[in-house]
Amino acid sequence: MTDALAKNHADAATAFDVDSIRRDFPAMQLKVYGKPLAYLDNAATSQKPESVIEAEAHWYRESCANVHRGVHALSVKATAAYESARQKLAGFINAANTREIVFVRGTTDAINLVAGSFARNRLDPGDEIVISGLEHHSNIVPWQLLCEERGAKLRVARLDDRGDVDMDEYARLLSERTRMVALSHISNALGTINPIERMIELAHERDIPVLVDGAQAAPHKKIDVQALGCEFYAFSSHKMFGPTGVGALYGRLDLLSEMPPYQGGGEMIRTVSFDKTEYAEPPARFEAGTPNIAGAVGFGAAVDYLLKVGLDRIEAYEDELLAYATERLLKVPDLRLIGTARRKAAVLSFVVGDVHAHDVGTILDQEGVAIRTGHHCAQPVMERYGVPATSRASLAFYNTREEVDRLVAGLGRIREVFGG
Ligand code: ALA
Repeated sequence: MTDALAKNHADAATAFDVDSIRRDFPAMQLKVYGKPLAYLDNAATSQKPESVIEAEAHWYRESCANVHRGVHALSVKATAAYESARQKLAGFINAANTREIVFVRGTTDAINLVAGSFARNRLDPGDEIVISGLEHHSNIVPWQLLCEERGAKLRVARLDDRGDVDMDEYARLLSERTRMVALSHISNALGTINPIERMIELAHERDIPVLVDGAQAAPHKKIDVQALGCEFYAFSSHKMFGPTGVGALYGRLDLLSEMPPYQGGGEMIRTVSFDKTEYAEPPARFEAGTPNIAGAVGFGAAVDYLLKVGLDRIEAYEDELLAYATERLLKVPDLRLIGTARRKAAVLSFVVGDVHAHDVGTILDQEGVAIRTGHHCAQPVMERYGVPATSRASLAFYNTREEVDRLVAGLGRIREVFGG
C-alpha cells in the first residue's frame, strides 16, 4: 500500500461511526450471562440490521403471494419485490445483466449447481478440476462427488506456512486436462485473501473457466464480477447481514444459457408434456419450485444497507480493527496465530498452548465473547497446520476495539483456569 493510500484508508476508518452502526443491529444490545454480547463469529453468520428484519416482515405483512404465477395484485407486488432484489444484487457485484443472478439457498447450493450442471458435461475420465488447499468443504466435496462420478481427478494447490496458496504450484497444476478451477476469494478458516485476479488470469490463459466462492468476501469487499472476469461467483445472504437460507450465483449469461437445469419442477419450464419438456431461459431455469421470496427481499435490503455504509469504508475500518486485534493477540502468552497471509481479511484463527479450542470457546462464552471453535468446515486446512481445531474470532464492521480487548481479557482467564 502506498503512503497516500494507507492515509486514505486510515482516514476512512477514523471517520467510521461505529456507535451509530451498532444501533442499527438489535443483536448488539443483547446480553449473555448478564454481560454485553461481543459477537465475534461473523464468518459463521452475521447479525442483521433492523432494516433487513423489517423488509422481510413487511413483505410477509403486505406482499405475501407467490411470484411469477398470479395475475392478482398481490402476486404482481410480490414478483416486483423479488425481481427488484435480483436487480439490486446484480448492481452490487456489477453483473452486466440482471439475468446473470440466480437465487439459490446459499454458496453451497450455488457451487453444487455449477458442479452438477456446468462442469458435469465438460468432464471426461482423466480430466481434472483444480482447487486450493484453503477451501471450505463446500468447495471440495461437490467437486469430489463429480470427479468420482466422471472418473476425473481433483488437484489441489498447496498452502505455504503463512496460509497463502503456492502460486507456482497453482500455475503448474493448470494443464490441458484442467476443465474447471474453483477457488475461494477469502478463506473462512485463515482469512487469507487470495490473489484472485491473478489466479483467474492464469486459468484464462488456458481457457479454463473459474468459479469463485465469495462467501467470505462479499460482506467485506467491493466485488466487481466484470472486472474479475470469472465465469461464476457464489455468495450467501446470511454472511452479508441478510437472512439465512438464500444466496446468489452469478453466472455469465452465455454460459447459463447453455447449461442444463440442475433441478426439475415448477417455474423452470417453458412447456411441459409427457413427451417433452422445454426449459425456461435463465435465471428461471435454475429456480425450480417456490423460491425463498421473503429471504430474497431481505437479501436486497441487506445489500442496500451495505451500500449505504459503503464497502470502501467497511474494508478500511475492518483492516484497522484486524491490525489492532493481531497486535493484541500476538502478546497473549502461548497463543499461536494460524494464518498470517500477506493479505488478510478480519479473521483470526489461533491456538492457545495445548488447551483445546472448545475449552477456549467455552471460557470466552462465559465472558460474553462469542467465537467459533472447531475445524470451521475446512479440515484439510487444520491438517495442513497439524491441529485438530482452532479458535476463530471473525470481525465485522460493527465490532469494536473494546470487544477485541474483551477477547484478550477472556483469553487471560484461560491461564487462570488451566494454569501455565
Ligand atoms: N462457513 C461458515 C464458517 O466458516 C459456517 O463458520
